[in-house]
Amino acid sequence: MIRLEGVTKKYLGRPDAALKDINLLVPPGEFVYLTGPSGAGKTTLLRLLFGAELPTSGRVLVGGTDLGRLPPRKLPLLRRRLGVVFQDFRLLPQQSVFENVALSLHVAGVRDAALVRRVLEVLAQVKLLEQSDVPAGTLSGGEQQRVALARALAPSPGLILADEPTGNLDPDNALMIMRMLVGDYVGGATVLVATHDPTLLSLVKGAKVIHLSSGRLEERS
Ligand SMILES: Nc1ncnc2c1ncn2[C@@H]1O[C@H](COP(=O)(O)OP(=O)(O)OP(=O)(O)O)[C@@H](O)[C@H]1O
Ligand SMILES: [Mg+2]
Repeated sequence: MIRLEGVTKKYLGRPDAALKDINLLVPPGEFVYLTGPSGAGKTTLLRLLFGAELPTSGRVLVGGTDLGRLPPRKLPLLRRRLGVVFQDFRLLPQQSVFENVALSLHVAGVRDAALVRRVLEVLAQVKLLEQSDVPAGTLSGGEQQRVALARALAPSPGLILADEPTGNLDPDNALMIMRMLVGDYVGGATVLVATHDPTLLSLVKGAKVIHLSSGRLEERS
């Protein structure tokens, strides 16, 4: 479960807060679209949820843990339960596609044959099996985006945070990615997808849509 209570985030040297008095409750297993124009605060909200930023005021709770009270040494433990697809991918460019995905499983404690099996399974899902030995940095933007998704989903995390996960994809691949973020495939995980693409919003039935506008939140469904 995710809970934000009166969360305001001000960045140093910025007069205007990036997030303003946000209150939000996301029950386990819910699919949420986080929408809003560029600069509205979508990435900032996701960064608060994986502890990359602390709120200036208010509380951020993930699975009952108050991130403001979490000692930094415990942050890796929390992150192991999260799957994050970054807006800028953050792959290891010199490492192969296989190694990029394997690393997230290794961190989650998966080893040997189980690790290999799972890497190949998710790479097949994102249609990148043939590129598994290629350095990730040599792939196209859309291909790298799919590696980033495979890496995030491989350990079957309970919470998935995806920042513009279809930003570099053609409509067919975007549809494929969105299908991977719902239902059986993510096994009941809570999913937050930040996007400013309105065409995505119809792809997941029953999704909650929350809209950010200049750092303020409104719910739309
Ligand atoms: N590290 C930072 N330092 C200072 N200001 C920041 C930082 N990160 C974001 N901001 C500012 O906070 C506001 C919200 O940015 P954020 O990246 O959260 O928007 P976004 O909704 O994700 O936009 P986009 O759709 O372009 O990805 C913007 O005004 C941005 O300039
Ligand atoms: Mg963003």
